[in-house]
Amino acid sequence: MVKVLGIAGSPRREGNTELLLRELLRGAGTRGLETELIILSEVNISPCTSCDLCQNDGMCVIEDDMQLMYQKLLEARYIIFASPIYFSGVSAQLKSFIDRCQALWSRKYILKQKLISPETPERKGYFISTSGSIGNNSVFQGAIATVRAIFHVLEIEYKGELLYQGMEKKGDILKCPDKMQEAFALGTSLR
Ligand SMILES: Cc1cc2nc3c(=O)[nH]c(=O)nc-3n(C[C@H](O)[C@H](O)[C@H](O)COP(=O)(O)O)c2cc1C
Repeated sequence: MVKVLGIAGSPRREGNTELLLRELLRGAGTRGLETELIILSEVNISPCTSCDLCQNDGMCVIEDDMQLMYQKLLEARYIIFASPIYFSGVSAQLKSFIDRCQALWSRKYILKQKLISPETPERKGYFISTSGSIGNNSVFQGAIATVRAIFHVLEIEYKGELLYQGMEKKGDILKCPDKMQEAFALGTSLR
């Protein structure tokens, strides 16, 4: 079954990016796709300590919830990252999650192991983000660069994004049903 993995990076529960992500997953669910939502603020994922021990065996020595995430990341057909813009980048929660993928980077580039079997159909990824500011088109660029970088390592094609400015307060996105509809429609377009 096609698996859609949603990673919610905001520490604000039911915030703008989480609501958009839920809507996308709901859309995918209506098409019979299997969906899973991980709320990063509800799990325990420490930052990478740059110990470099993953360069020996491709495993991270930090015993926390990230250990459950590696297989999910490697198995999903679609991966959706959702994060607010925090000082021109992704949230600390999402950045820690991404940095801990250094273990997978080591498997691939140091140990020369295959992350994804060649028979696996093309994997695709999307990025959902909101910002408080309006009229600053470059506000998402730092976060997009980070997401593109990790998608590249995980062999996920960056297929698109939902980026909305002017969403300062919790629930602002609910005042824009057209944007929620865009997220739902994107979910229904996944195959
Ligand atoms: C710590 C922090 C840093 C932020 N930095 C920015 C920023 O650099 N630019 C911006 O436009 N909005 C910034 N914001 C506003 C959030 O991006 C905005 O409220 C977003 O919609 C929150 O999404 P959420 O409801 O999913 O958490 C910041 C908010 C916080 C709490």
